[in-house]
Amino acid sequence: MSQAIAVPAEGVAERAPSAVVAARELSRQYGEGDTAVLALRGVDLDVQREKLTAVMGPSGSGKSTLMHLLAGLDMPTAGDVWIDGTNITKLGDTELTKLRRKHIGFIFQFFNLLPMLTAEENVTLPLSIAGQKPDKAWLEELIGKVGLGDRRTHRPSELSGGQQQRVAIARALVSRPTVMFADEPTGNLDSTTSGEILELLRTMVESYGQTTVMVTHDPQAAAIAHRILFLSDGSVVRDMGPSDASDVIAAMDELSRR
Ligand SMILES: Nc1ncnc2c1ncn2[C@@H]1O[C@H](COP(=O)(O)OP(=O)(O)O)[C@@H](O)[C@H]1O
Ligand SMILES: [Mg+2]
Repeated sequence: MSQAIAVPAEGVAERAPSAVVAARELSRQYGEGDTAVLALRGVDLDVQREKLTAVMGPSGSGKSTLMHLLAGLDMPTAGDVWIDGTNITKLGDTELTKLRRKHIGFIFQFFNLLPMLTAEENVTLPLSIAGQKPDKAWLEELIGKVGLGDRRTHRPSELSGGQQQRVAIARALVSRPTVMFADEPTGNLDSTTSGEILELLRTMVESYGQTTVMVTHDPQAAAIAHRILFLSDGSVVRDMGPSDASDVIAAMDELSRR
């Protein structure tokens, strides 16, 4: 570790926010010069532990960019992200990979399962990659909880979209991460299946205290959250507590008319 990046220990302790996931003045610019896009403009955020936070906003408002930065899948142009007290923007690749393995689960809109692996192999893949064995009792409980007990040897092509997303949820949670991020997890599912997946995500928060941050376009989906953030043009423009779908729709209307 070079001396240039050594910071006095008390300075680090003083500045590290206490929230489980925190962002300060987080910015991300894509590209340079004439074609540069400022996708995120100085976002400050403290994620609440053991709660479900929804992130809403129009297409292109920076939701995915924010999720990728919070999860350490991308690095900011400026600003900082802390996961469980560690500033992840200051970590090297190896340390970041380790931190992500331990602390972060991620669910994508298009499931991102490996087609040649069975459902169960997909679930345990993050552990296999890290050379770890699954905690058998937790794996059994998790597979039961997501409703895949009779699908564990099926491959993704033999599963419905909803079942594939259940595999992805179990994969995200197999290492019991500090926080789970979900970027439009129901964006590719019909409304009945979406409802089931949302119910499952909410159950993970209620049963296990699984801190979750979820991007969604759907007011019904946001209505199951403890908190709803609205992004517009790269900034957080509204921060609401528990709300029903009609409140969410009203807030979306108001923001679209600004
Ligand atoms: N890799 C990229 N290169 C260039 N521009 C990008 C890239 N990713 C996203 N953007 C741009 O950044 C802005 C925010 O994108 P994104 O975070 O994907 O928004 P959202 O998820 O809310 O739809 C958009 O203008 C988008 O076109
Ligand atoms: Mg997006």
